[in-house]
Amino acid sequence: MIIIINMFDNSKIKMLIDAKKLTKKVEELGEGITRDYADKYPVLIAILKGSFIFVADICRRIKIPVIFDFMAVSSYGNARASSGIVRITKDLDTNIEGKDVIIIEDIIDSGRTLNYLIKNLEARNPKSIEVCALLDKNVPRKTTNKIKYKGFDIPNKFVIGYGLDIGEKYRNLPYIGYIEDEQ
Ligand code: IMP
Ligand code: MG
Repeated sequence: MIIIINMFDNSKIKMLIDAKKLTKKVEELGEGITRDYADKYPVLIAILKGSFIFVADICRRIKIPVIFDFMAVSSYGNARASSGIVRITKDLDTNIEGKDVIIIEDIIDSGRTLNYLIKNLEARNPKSIEVCALLDKNVPRKTTNKIKYKGFDIPNKFVIGYGLDIGEKYRNLPYIGYIEDEQ
């Protein structure tokens, strides 16, 4: 007998983007990258931990050869807001000089993490850098980054699931949600 325990039986979690919509959007984004990089051999740089599910899904929708690398960053500050001071906790294993780089991010909030990453990676002299972000939060920003491949614009809520966490919880939720009385 199989007993299914619903570990997400939390009536406070509200759905924002369901699994079907995520699948469809990821497919579209993958098609775009396939088209634009048909004659290239891009390096997908997934930013850990939040983008681990997104990159695993999108890479299987990209129908050209790619190289994978991973970076982990943490930004000082509280759990909900990035301070803008970013620390690299895991650096790339490969040399990206002369390569076409695509940064794979889960979510852009203030944009400060992305700004830092772009500056840091540009210093390594890649041929090109583009950004693929699943979610773009509607917040006033001092800095605007060009996101070439964008999944969804979302309201200014703290979201969880599909890789995103709150205090390391809920990353394995199969959809994007938010906790109702949190905001
Ligand atoms: P930014 O530097 O303010 O753009 O923050 C970007 C990073 O903060 C993301 O890569 C996430 O790791 C985290 N983050 C921002 N907003 C959320 C959210 O709503 N849920 C979970 N993590 C978030
Ligand atoms: Mg992240």
